[in-house]
Amino acid sequence: MFLLILALESSAHTLGVGIVDNGKIIANSKQMYKITDKGMIPARVADFHAKNVYKVIKDALEQANVRLSDLDAIGYTKGPGIGPCLHVGQLAAKHLGLELKLPVYPVNHAIAHIEVTKHLGKLKDPIALYVSGGNSQILGIENTPFKHYHIYGETFDIGVGNMLDNFARAAKLIPAWGSTVAKVAESGNYIDMPYSVKGMDFTFTGLQTNAVKRIGKEKLEDIAFSLQETAFSMLTEATERALMLTGKKELVLSGGVAQSKRLKEMLELMSKSHKIKFYDADNQFNADNGAMIALVAEKMYNSDLKINKNELNIDQKYKIDKVKILW
Ligand code: FE2
Repeated sequence: MFLLILALESSAHTLGVGIVDNGKIIANSKQMYKITDKGMIPARVADFHAKNVYKVIKDALEQANVRLSDLDAIGYTKGPGIGPCLHVGQLAAKHLGLELKLPVYPVNHAIAHIEVTKHLGKLKDPIALYVSGGNSQILGIENTPFKHYHIYGETFDIGVGNMLDNFARAAKLIPAWGSTVAKVAESGNYIDMPYSVKGMDFTFTGLQTNAVKRIGKEKLEDIAFSLQETAFSMLTEATERALMLTGKKELVLSGGVAQSKRLKEMLELMSKSHKIKFYDADNQFNADNGAMIALVAEKMYNSDLKINKNELNIDQKYKIDKVKILW
């Protein structure tokens, strides 16, 4: 029995279309808007998505070797994300739903990041460290007052990804993002930097300011290395605390910054010392992608959830802990 679900992801610079068939990812197609030193201008990114949406859908259908008429449901990212970009995915999904007379499911982007990793790692009830540009949170499922992702800890200011990008821009690294900082950090040595963890929460702006101030005064390799080491140690300490307090025995690392080798290494070591099962997905699923949205849309479909037409909107600040988990 086939159960084919196609979904669109368009919350930021990636336009992704994924197709799943009974929990199996059979297509994960994407096009990425290239970020310049001016950052992301929402209208330009949305324009890029609108121009590419049919091509990416077509690509995904070809990858999966299915036709539009074979589909059973459509999903899209409702939020959080950049308004004009989210609109492109929402409109395409609603259009497909209407044309093909299929149910449409609005998906929370953060939940999709965690669920895809959990699904691929075959984990049941993990703590999730969700780290991306705008987000840094430690989450896990709690059952009261309803089943939802509870936030155990989070950043009080900016996401760790944005901090690394901001540093990269200040240091004039090209491209100005975390993986370039990681490359520079390879030959660096440790210098002391401000470390700020309060329970399971943390802040990054103090660390960012300190690192940026050192540019030109100390070796860039040392600053990059120490910035990474400090930020990732903070995340590892807070995550360890969440694991100990909840007693959960599994850990997933999700989101764009999950592509960082050094962060994976630290979490792996910590998990090993507590006999925690650690899993991180292949990088194509850590970066924004359509397959993760399709997987959650499939779970919503299988939960017999009835979606009202007025729920097929976008929500730039769609909070993860407000979403009922029905599976
Ligand atoms: Fe994301």
